[in-house]
Amino acid sequence: MSQPEDKAVFTKPFTQQEPIPEEAIAKAVEVMRHGRLHRYNTLEGEVAEAALLEDEFATYLGVPYCLACASGGYAMHVALRSAGVEQGTPVLTNAYTLSPVPGAIDNAGGHAVLVEITDRYTIDFVDLERKAEASGAKFLLLSHMRGHIADMDAIVEICQRRGIALIEDCAHTMGARWKGRKSGTFGIAACFSTQTYKHMNSGEGGFLTTTDPELMARAVMFSGSYMLYDRHVAAPDKDVFLEVRLDTPNYSGRMDNLRAAILRPQLRMLDEKCRRWNELYRTLDEGLRRVPGVTLPLRSPDEDYVGSSIQFSLNALSEAQFHSFLAGCAERGVDLKWFGAAEPKGFTSRYDSWRYLPPQQDLPQTRQVLSRLCDMRVPLTFDEEDCRQIVKVIASVLKAMEFERV
Ligand SMILES: Cc1ncc(COP(=O)(O)O)c(C=O)c1O
Repeated sequence: MSQPEDKAVFTKPFTQQEPIPEEAIAKAVEVMRHGRLHRYNTLEGEVAEAALLEDEFATYLGVPYCLACASGGYAMHVALRSAGVEQGTPVLTNAYTLSPVPGAIDNAGGHAVLVEITDRYTIDFVDLERKAEASGAKFLLLSHMRGHIADMDAIVEICQRRGIALIEDCAHTMGARWKGRKSGTFGIAACFSTQTYKHMNSGEGGFLTTTDPELMARAVMFSGSYMLYDRHVAAPDKDVFLEVRLDTPNYSGRMDNLRAAILRPQLRMLDEKCRRWNELYRTLDEGLRRVPGVTLPLRSPDEDYVGSSIQFSLNALSEAQFHSFLAGCAERGVDLKWFGAAEPKGFTSRYDSWRYLPPQQDLPQTRQVLSRLCDMRVPLTFDEEDCRQIVKVIASVLKAMEFERV
């Protein structure tokens, strides 16, 4: 017997990405057949898949330099080190992000200085100025968490005025833009992830991009180039390496040719995938805006985001109601994540659970925003009808709660 409409359970998994495209599989098989998986294992005159991918990604972004890495977290670590972060250097970062961000700062020896977020889920400029002043920090690792892009004109102005080097964490904004300019081109460097849940999928992987030749030379050396840096394509001239090659330890974190091979065809499909994500996002956004009690953040018309996930707030619910809402959705197959829990769970963790960080002031505004913030993945294995079903489940769980309260 089919279930009544308002008790329907959504059955598709929120973690199922699309398969790797056939062209990418064929490329991977080719690499496995010849066996030269290490990026520096090339035949005379051969350009490795990793080097080709770097060149193609640099071209896509419109920058001269790109380094393919073992992960996005590694790219952030190496970007910070290459930009000059050393033991004890303060690094500003927004407190709503994923744990690899403070982890990368720690790995680079830096001291994370956490900055509040606003109800648009982006960094709070007033607190940024305050924390920059108090800490004297000259680095900002700005995480475009869940694809929400802050006013980049304001960020760049603050950074320039205060002499702060901006590094963008574009793990969730690959393919996105601000005022038509690609996310990842606003600071001295940008980092991307190609981990399974991101916009291109190689299981694990990442990119570091920059326009700064010395920063890139250091990054290539850090990544473990074994002095084979002349096999890179999207990298500066040999002379730049001569300046830095003996001063940079090898922190081994290269991408291999197998992953690069499966990413190259995916890069050609990226913009089309972003378009499809935004179609799903629009269906969810339009549907959720009609549900009483649900608040979606205001997004600037200057922001061309990639809707590979959606966030909304339920500010009128009490804590107990919010918990029963999450539980109700989970029972009906709608997997919502919550970054406000005191106890980290799965991929989510609140900033105060990163106890390895230097002691921080409390961030009451961020806590408040996170306390009612719901986060949902939108895999491309969903279609628009799935999105409509999800909205129905959310609306009916909220409605049933209202009924219980009466
Ligand atoms: C916001 C954000 N930044 C950076 C990363 C780091 O990516 P990776 O998992 O490739 O290290 C992630 C990964 O989930 C992320 O969500």
